[in-house]
Amino acid sequence: MKAMVYDEYGSPDVLRLEEVDTPTPADNEILIKVHAVSVNRSDWEGLIGKPLYARLGGLRKPGNPILGSDIAGRVERTGKNHSQFQPGAEVFGEMADYHNGFAEYVRARGTILALKPSSMTFEEAAAIPQAGVIALQGIRDKGQIQQGQKVLINGAGGGAGSFAVQLAKLYGAEVTGVDNAEKLDFMHSLGADHVIDYTREDFTKNGKQYDFILDLIAYRSAFAYARALKPDGSYYAVGGSVATFLQFFLFGPWIKRNSGRKVRLLAVQRNRKDLEDITELCVARKVIPYIDKRYPLREVPEALRYLGEGHAKGKVVITVE
Ligand SMILES: NC(=O)c1ccc[n+]([C@@H]2O[C@H](COP(=O)([O-])OP(=O)(O)OC[C@H]3O[C@@H](n4cnc5c(N)ncnc54)[C@H](OP(=O)(O)O)[C@@H]3O)[C@@H](O)[C@H]2O)c1
Repeated sequence: MKAMVYDEYGSPDVLRLEEVDTPTPADNEILIKVHAVSVNRSDWEGLIGKPLYARLGGLRKPGNPILGSDIAGRVERTGKNHSQFQPGAEVFGEMADYHNGFAEYVRARGTILALKPSSMTFEEAAAIPQAGVIALQGIRDKGQIQQGQKVLINGAGGGAGSFAVQLAKLYGAEVTGVDNAEKLDFMHSLGADHVIDYTREDFTKNGKQYDFILDLIAYRSAFAYARALKPDGSYYAVGGSVATFLQFFLFGPWIKRNSGRKVRLLAVQRNRKDLEDITELCVARKVIPYIDKRYPLREVPEALRYLGEGHAKGKVVITVE
């Protein structure tokens, strides 16, 4: 099969489209013919090897040569002990180890995959898993947003952010979206009431405070984030630098004791139920998986460059011929 492979951390230039062995599913696994796979920042991080957590699989060179985690496709074959999905079933979801999706076939146990709704294209389905579940666990579960609350989403114009803005609006929040200047109109179109260009304004220094902040890209100090919260407000970071995450562990409990504000890391728990919940909202068109651009498999490097260089609004999807 064809797959986009790499064997060193670096720019998209290190990626090559190659013929590799088609995976063989174990007895409890399925083989899926991939029709679409979306691009996440986690792929970009896995490509360049930054932040440090992106090197968990291999410190000096990538532990797995194929990136791509959110796939949608058709079950080609099942292992002899697999009973959940039948050949021909249209499935989608996130790969358990965030890898192997930029290819014509993947093998998976299927425990965190779901059946693709028939009303949805493979591209739409592939756009949902990682970004949609991050947003759901952030806004619905951690935020428990009430009507009229003030919510800020940092990185609101990207994949997870575009789902998070729509969810927060659905729950009745007054939403501020933060991203680069190119994405201000896009954030408004998602429903954001206020938008901030992060290159011109620091939301932790403008004196405004929020009930809840979901941060897709945390690089500031824990104290800066606490300053942007109302008393009793909560801040959850999903992505960002390891140095910032360490501060949450070191200072988070102290900040909570002294000010009532929660400053924490959200470790996303991938599971089928949440994938189905966010997908149900998409099927009902209460939340839209916004796809900015589509690329063929051979153009994964261009797709990653587009995201990594800061242009992607919502999701970028690879269509696998
Ligand atoms: N905690 C967990 O368990 C878990 C699980 C999976 C993934 N993750 C992480 O979750 C994050 C999800 O991100 P995503 O896929 O939604 O990424 P994305 O699509 O790239 O969106 C991130 C957005 O943030 C913007 N941004 C960059 N720097 C910013 C800044 N200083 N201030 C405000 N916005 C900024 C980006 O714009 P530019 O174009 O300007 O860069 C982009 O629009 C990733 O970091 C991933 O590693 C965490």
